[in-house]
Amino acid sequence: MNRNVIFFAVASVLLAGCHTDMWRQNKSAPLSQNDFFPDGQASRPLLAGTIAKGHERKDDAFFTGAKGGKWVNELPVPLSKKLLLRGQERYNIFCSPCHGQVGDGNGMIANRGFTLKRPVGNYHTDRLRNMPVGHFYDVITNGYGTMYSYASRIEPSDRWAIVAYVKALQLSQNAPLADADPVALEESLKPKEDKAHAEGAKH
Ligand code: HEC
Repeated sequence: MNRNVIFFAVASVLLAGCHTDMWRQNKSAPLSQNDFFPDGQASRPLLAGTIAKGHERKDDAFFTGAKGGKWVNELPVPLSKKLLLRGQERYNIFCSPCHGQVGDGNGMIANRGFTLKRPVGNYHTDRLRNMPVGHFYDVITNGYGTMYSYASRIEPSDRWAIVAYVKALQLSQNAPLADADPVALEESLKPKEDKAHAEGAKH
């Protein structure tokens, strides 16, 4: 046998041996029983106040929607078209089934007999139009009355995107005529041509 092969064989046996004391050390498998602790569990509870790395929440306004005990009136994130589009997408997924695509409370679930103590909220009331953005963030985070919390499903940054979009919905359903684009307005006021009829007339 070649000397190298012998050396390799001996070395691998010796090196593998280094491993066994690591394997055989005393340890407890996760979530196993252990009588050493009074509660009989090997896995120890986290110390009070433990925060996972990267999950420190220093910014009150961003994480709670309130600062100094009051709802914030301004978005704690920059408003952009990208934010609104993200909010629209998330809103349509998570909120429109109950609140409807324009936020009037006429979503499919509401239409098909969703009856709880109170009807699904309609965003187009004076009370909610004047409500600070922090309140909307809080409703998504903690739920409201019979509406349950979305905290486990929607990240804080997406909650703000939804809040911005809900505010845009409120504006869209309560805009003065003067805000309308004059060209689009004129176009929408033209009598509608009957498309099927027009197509038929071609033949
Ligand atoms: C399963 C149905 C359902 C879904 C989905 C839902 N909601 Fe609601 N929401 C309700 C109901 C019901 C109420 C009224 C609760 C009450 O008054 O007790 C409500 C109320 C509200 C209100 C009014 C709070 C107020 O001050 O009157 C807001 C704002 C709101 N929801 C936002 C949202 C947003 C944003 C989403 C999506 C992240 C969402 N909801 C998803 C059912 C739903």
